[in-house]
Amino acid sequence: MEFQQVVDRRRMIRNYAERPVDPGAIARALRNATRAPSAGFSQGWAFVLLDEPDDVGGYWEATTDPEQLAAPDAWLAGMMRAPVVVLPCSSKDAYLDRYAEPDKGVTNRDEGRWRVPYWHMDTAMAALLILQTVVDEGLGALFFGIPTERIDAVRRSFAIPDTHDPIGAITIGHLTDDAGLRGSPAHRRRVPLDELVHRGGWTQ
Ligand SMILES: Cc1cc2nc3c(=O)[nH]c(=O)nc-3n(C[C@H](O)[C@H](O)[C@H](O)COP(=O)(O)O)c2cc1C
Repeated sequence: MEFQQVVDRRRMIRNYAERPVDPGAIARALRNATRAPSAGFSQGWAFVLLDEPDDVGGYWEATTDPEQLAAPDAWLAGMMRAPVVVLPCSSKDAYLDRYAEPDKGVTNRDEGRWRVPYWHMDTAMAALLILQTVVDEGLGALFFGIPTERIDAVRRSFAIPDTHDPIGAITIGHLTDDAGLRGSPAHRRRVPLDELVHRGGWTQ
């Protein structure tokens, strides 16, 4: 697929066909994720891959009330059909350690100097590469948030160490004729470029 097609076709998919995906496509998406840029080449990311039905089920159990699981709404029903869930995790420690190395010359691990948490930013860039690769593979995906009050349960379920922070989750699966709920683009416009680009400075 042409790169421009990948960009134009990517949209979040909230409904999946109930069939497995080619493990090779998932492997490629994860490999591409590691081609993301990272500050100081810190590569402070890791990916929990859930591609067995029990593990995927475990994700939904960890993040959903039992009553909701028993009677899922349209969003949850469509999402639970995805055969793969990836949890991109960021590692702040990787950046604090990396920037304390001689070529960076920071002498302490003070977090205060990080105006922008590059560990989340770089992991998000890796997540976008997963989303784009999925489109190129003819599949669909959704990046979505893990409810804050469920993070501990997710950590416990998949033994995620304290050094790593799951920044969200990505479902991956086959498309159906009905891509499911359109989400916010159904009622919000895409902001036109001329409202976003400030050529030569922010003059108006
Ligand atoms: C950081 C982030 C968090 C998101 N969280 C959710 C979510 O919890 N549930 C959901 O259905 N969509 C979620 N989305 C998807 C957005 O709603 C979607 O990207 C946006 O509406 C634009 O639509 P598009 O990606 O299909 O172009 C999230 C997207 C991002 C980037």
